[in-house]
Amino acid sequence: MEETTSIPTTSVVSGDEIVEPIESVDNSKEGAKKRKKQVSEEERKKFWAHKKQQAKERKKAKGEERRAEAAKRPKREKVPIKSDEEEEEKVKLLRKERKELWLNKPTEGSIIFDLDFDSLMLDKEIRSLSSQLVFCYASNKKLETPVHMAFTSFNGRLADQLKLHNGFSHWKIDMHPEHFSKVYPLEKTVYLTAESDTVLQDIESDKHYVIGGIVDKNRHKTKGLTANKAKELGMNTARLPLEQYMDMSTRKVLTVNQVMEIICHYLSTKSWSKAMDVSIPMRKGAHVKEGEEKSEKKEGEEKKEEETENTESKEGTQVAAGKE
Ligand SMILES: C[S@@+](CC[C@H](N)C(=O)[O-])C[C@H]1O[C@@H](n2cnc3c(N)ncnc32)[C@H](O)[C@@H]1O
Repeated sequence: MEETTSIPTTSVVSGDEIVEPIESVDNSKEGAKKRKKQVSEEERKKFWAHKKQQAKERKKAKGEERRAEAAKRPKREKVPIKSDEEEEEKVKLLRKERKELWLNKPTEGSIIFDLDFDSLMLDKEIRSLSSQLVFCYASNKKLETPVHMAFTSFNGRLADQLKLHNGFSHWKIDMHPEHFSKVYPLEKTVYLTAESDTVLQDIESDKHYVIGGIVDKNRHKTKGLTANKAKELGMNTARLPLEQYMDMSTRKVLTVNQVMEIICHYLSTKSWSKAMDVSIPMRKGAHVKEGEEKSEKKEGEEKKEEETENTESKEGTQVAAGKE
């Protein structure tokens, strides 16, 4: 027979003591097992609650420790993060400074481009000349001391074509719709032409040198076109000293941008041979006469001539160096 102990199930007052009601305890084996299970469940809960509390305290202590350490460390300066806008502003400012520097640069010498041949050129020749003039401007921009540049008779198709060039409106160049003879004193002006009897020795800073703005490829049989024009005006002419410094197997009539480039190189080196060597492509069969220094830049220059002389320039062509 199994033993049972009677335990009060409601609160009773015994003297001064309140006796809590207790259920009757099952002292059987099953009951003991049940109680043991109940106890171990409570202990498990207590155990994990305790663990949780410990972890919480550890975390709190670590946090405090870290904050204390950080407070001891010297404060690092905050590096401001540059935004894209700031970078753009910087680039804009640099461009503006460069442009102002170029615009305020003093000039020495003067080159006039006589653009009075508009009606003699085909549309593709107009485009080619426009491209050559972009190269001329770029060559001048590279000079430590640039030359003064001017376009005269600037009023026809060529003017329209040049205006398509990106940045053209900011070019540092004098543009006159009139003929050059109406703008510059003829006694101080020299027409450069391959047919001249006079060989150009130097570029004088008080003179204006005129380059004929024409791409004709002998289509009009325009041999002597500029020489005749200069003769009519009774002005001085000169040819570049090509034969003095170069052995040339082909014609000595150069393109507008080659003439400009030779002049620009001459101004920066004061050497005709060096100037010609870098400006006249090998394709023309030219090479510096013996004893004269040779340049290594031929290949690039040849390519450049191909671009300007033989190919039509695309509308609104953008030659990076020519951009403002
Ligand atoms: C393609 S050429 C024009 C050729 C045109 N048949 C002429 O009568 O001038 C372009 C310009 O470059 C200049 N030029 C070309 N070769 C030259 C040279 N050897 N000496 C001086 N100027 C030259 C001239 O001003 C010329 O008008």
